Amino acid sequence: MVIMLDSASLAAIENAIDYYPIEGVTTNPSILEKEGDVPFWEHLESIREVLGRWRSLHVQVVSTSYEEIVKEAELIRRRLGEETYVKIPVTKDGIKAIKHLSHESFHITATAIYNEFQALMALLSGAEYLALYFNRMENNSVDPCAVISSLRKYTDEYGKGKILGASFKNVAQVLSALRSGAHAVTIAPEIISSGLSSSLVENAVLDFRKSWENVHKEKGLLDL
Ligand code: E4P
Repeated sequence: MVIMLDSASLAAIENAIDYYPIEGVTTNPSILEKEGDVPFWEHLESIREVLGRWRSLHVQVVSTSYEEIVKEAELIRRRLGEETYVKIPVTKDGIKAIKHLSHESFHITATAIYNEFQALMALLSGAEYLALYFNRMENNSVDPCAVISSLRKYTDEYGKGKILGASFKNVAQVLSALRSGAHAVTIAPEIISSGLSSSLVENAVLDFRKSWENVHKEKGLLDL
């Protein structure tokens, strides 16, 4: 199981990899828009540096035609390193580009997946990750859990392809995706925080502290 961060905020990425078991970062033009008018390549290079070599970075193409997608993928790989995952939306041109680029040993994350058929086409075209838009599926009356569990049978049988749950709006959706068979999830920093904030936990920690103080007064564990 892999957890990635769905963010392009350098501060959020630094914080998340410091505290949590984050193994990658996914971006798209809308996520980057939140950072304002930052220099695109320099910003992504900084993210790459913060991540180190073993965590994955997923960067999305912007163009929609096969030829331009391929050129953008080549530039992304040249600028950010060959281990970078190029995110390609699963359109007709996107599928052709995934087919071509996977033969050229690019790492591909197929994205903007709203249904099982798109996911299968991307899988058979050579995409390594299949980014399924969980919340957007729900908004469009598609059951994302059914799609994930069905797709998981195909990836297991095929021996390739990893389901990356994306587009989450709350922790319950993240857990449903994992329970249904997603290999990985990408989560916004605020969803991670919301999943960990609990007055029950805070009160439990306070009670333990009080119990300690009842016995040892102001002395800490290191003072004994
Ligand atoms: C990540 O790979 C996706 O691009 C992202 O999770 C989409 O999220 P959204 O539906 O909130 O735009």
